[in-house]
Amino acid sequence: MAGIYIHIPFCKTKCHYCDFYKSTDFGAKTDFLSALKKEIDWRKHELDGESIASIYFGGGTPSVLKIDEINEILHLIDTGYQLEEDIEVTLEANPDDLTESFLERLNSTRINRLSIGTQSFNDHDLKSMNRRHNSRQAINSIKGAQQAGVQNISIDLIYGLPNQTLADWETNVEQAIALDVQHISAYHLTYHEGTVFYDYLKSGKIKELPDELSLDQFKLLLNRLKSAGFEQYEISNFARNECYSRHNKAYWERKKYLGFGPSAHSFDHKNRRWNVSSLRKYLQAMEAKTSFSETEILSEQDQYNDYMITSLRTKWGISGPYLKENFDPKFRRFFQKQAEKYLTSKHLRYADDVYRLSTEGLFISDKIMEELFFIE
Ligand SMILES: C[S@@+](CC[C@H](N)C(=O)[O-])C[C@H]1O[C@@H](n2cnc3c(N)ncnc32)[C@H](O)[C@@H]1O
Ligand code: SF4
Repeated sequence: MAGIYIHIPFCKTKCHYCDFYKSTDFGAKTDFLSALKKEIDWRKHELDGESIASIYFGGGTPSVLKIDEINEILHLIDTGYQLEEDIEVTLEANPDDLTESFLERLNSTRINRLSIGTQSFNDHDLKSMNRRHNSRQAINSIKGAQQAGVQNISIDLIYGLPNQTLADWETNVEQAIALDVQHISAYHLTYHEGTVFYDYLKSGKIKELPDELSLDQFKLLLNRLKSAGFEQYEISNFARNECYSRHNKAYWERKKYLGFGPSAHSFDHKNRRWNVSSLRKYLQAMEAKTSFSETEILSEQDQYNDYMITSLRTKWGISGPYLKENFDPKFRRFFQKQAEKYLTSKHLRYADDVYRLSTEGLFISDKIMEELFFIE
């Protein structure tokens, strides 16, 4: 079972926190779609007949595509690849694109999951992030999708925003719960170099939230979502009734995936490959049929470190038998030695030969991960 990721590299405007690869120049959209279709066709041999369990349209802003364009891409994948019958097909969507007519026509596609980029229900936050929607539009887009019959809806929220109080964040979380969605992804703001927020931070125009307030916001999130029936199955991801993101779960389980489009990543257990993060270079390479990606062959140490990062984050944890079967004994010995002090301090729990973060461990997961990393 494998996954397909499709990167749609266009945004109408750029948000102040975002460093995903995107362009605001839609002039090359038609050429991009032709190039993308070529890539989808060229790479179909890479899966050796392995079936596809999930397709994820990410970006950039996939909801800038027309329904017919989405259908053409999905049709091409359907003809070249073997799709599982109950395949999960997710579209990342911005609230301002989810118009009534778009949502109505969504039913004519195989999209069965929407990941809506709400980010906040506070107009001041939304404005400061340079989002194109306001709180009312965010709420209406979610309700509109529900009325249109989309049964699997996830929303994205960002916390740890400059000047965001605990009460502001609480209002956001309560609003998210009230909307009765199946899934919530809540990310702490990261300041990425090259973004407007990063420049504001460096020039002193905005300040990072104090660590204690960030932690209090995280704790509030965990408590409120738990009481509302959400299960935290990954540090930033929460689902009701086991409506996990199958696509992301497969990443964490280190299943194979193909990434199409500029900046998209692919993984086949032993190699990591990433497409060039330039639409111009991607188009040129597609035209000239030359290489548009770089590949890194993963050493055993890389694979062990990857396993640490992906597994520790999830409720499924780090499996003793998996370590034993897949890695040289020195890695398991190293892991056990490093894990020891966190087992004693109860930041890690051990049961059924699986190591998992405890709630306290979640709060210092970066530090634990760092210490579980094998560096020779
Ligand atoms: C590819 S992005 C956005 C998808 C879509 N274009 C949108 O704007 O809703 C996926 C998610 O990553 C999160 N994200 C992006 N940059 C972030 C940052 N610097 N800090 C925290 N979360 C971030 C946002 O919640 C965003 O919805
Ligand atoms: S958050 Fe979404 S809409 Fe905003 S710049 Fe990033 S990809 Fe584009």
